[in-house]
Amino acid sequence: MKYMVTGGAGFIGANFVYYMLEKHPDAQIVCLDLLTYAGNLHTLEKAMESPNFQFVHGDIADRGCVFPLFEKEKPDYVVNFAAESHVDRSIKNPGVFLQTNIIGTQVLMDACREYGIKRFHQVSTDEVYGDLPIDRPDLMFTEQSPIHTSSPYSASKASADLIALAYYRTFGLPVTLSRCSNNYGPFQFPEKLIPLMIARALADESLPVYGTGANVRDWLYVTDHCAAIDLIVSNGREGEVYNIGGHNERTNLQVVHAVLEGLGKPESLIHYVTDRPGHDLRYAINPAKIEAELGWSPTRHFEEGIRSTVAWYVENREWWERIISGEYQEYYEKMYKNR
Ligand code: NAD
Ligand code: TYD
Repeated sequence: MKYMVTGGAGFIGANFVYYMLEKHPDAQIVCLDLLTYAGNLHTLEKAMESPNFQFVHGDIADRGCVFPLFEKEKPDYVVNFAAESHVDRSIKNPGVFLQTNIIGTQVLMDACREYGIKRFHQVSTDEVYGDLPIDRPDLMFTEQSPIHTSSPYSASKASADLIALAYYRTFGLPVTLSRCSNNYGPFQFPEKLIPLMIARALADESLPVYGTGANVRDWLYVTDHCAAIDLIVSNGREGEVYNIGGHNERTNLQVVHAVLEGLGKPESLIHYVTDRPGHDLRYAINPAKIEAELGWSPTRHFEEGIRSTVAWYVENREWWERIISGEYQEYYEKMYKNR
């Protein structure tokens, strides 16, 4: 079986590549990634050693790249992680989010139609459901919750979801979708809450908490997400949406405290800053469908997962220090300038 994994040089895509290489040693993996600021070839160094893995540099929104690649590789499964993924960046520059997240998804699905596919899986987010009130812990997102987006990022992801479902209904393309809560773990780009706080706390720099820090996110360890996607791709029903989440709701302040505790750093580093415009209050996933249909359940509780994540960033300083210094982009230049 051949998997095309798009966005595999990013956080979740790379974790998925490693998960699949270990779980399915016979599977072939072709990773298509544009290596934007968020993509990092260092992350895939170990994968490159495997004869079952190959990296292709290219843009999912570029038909001239995607169609010949499909013609050559004829993947059985496409798992689309490639995206612009940071809400704050989408507030500053929405255009690239629409281009990659919407048009890129369409181009991939057009190639799937042209060359045939067993499954196209779209990796989506709980952010398409908008937010929930903080004082109603009884409310959670189900697959029936209305789409109600807040940021250009979530609106672009919701658009891609609707187009994917339209390709299923109209063209019979074998599509599945998953909507996951906030992920954390190794290889997350240090602009997202947890790695940003770890990197800054290690340097004794102030920790910028938006607003009052009372916003709630539902945190899932990244390999639990990867396991869920693997199950959906092989056993999920076509045309269906699956919510993925771990019942690990925490306020941002609780998360930052957990990081400080893990590093033995003082609370005085916390610095409250102006809130994000349109900041979603609370996300919470009801994963009953994937638990009942596919037997998935999360394996890592937040307290244990955050401890091991903090330890990973402490032990792998080189990985994120290269990013902060910009050196990883020079590495890309070296690797690709003559290709
Ligand atoms: P990321 O930003 O770490 O990685 C994105 C990857 O996509 C990078 O390697 C980048 O180079 C690549 N990419 C960007 N534009 C591309 C293009 N036009 N063509 C090819 N490659 C391109 O993102 P992530 O956190 O790993 O998220 C992966 C997916 O999971 C996204 O679709 C995101 O919406 C979704 N998701 C993320 C979370 C989370 O908490 N991080 C939660 C739920 C869903
Ligand atoms: P983020 O990691 O950007 O994920 P998302 O916005 O997709 O949930 O942010 C997680 C939460 O942390 C969100 O409520 C915004 C907040 N946050 C801060 O308070 N400070 C920061 O520096 C960042 C990056 C995020």
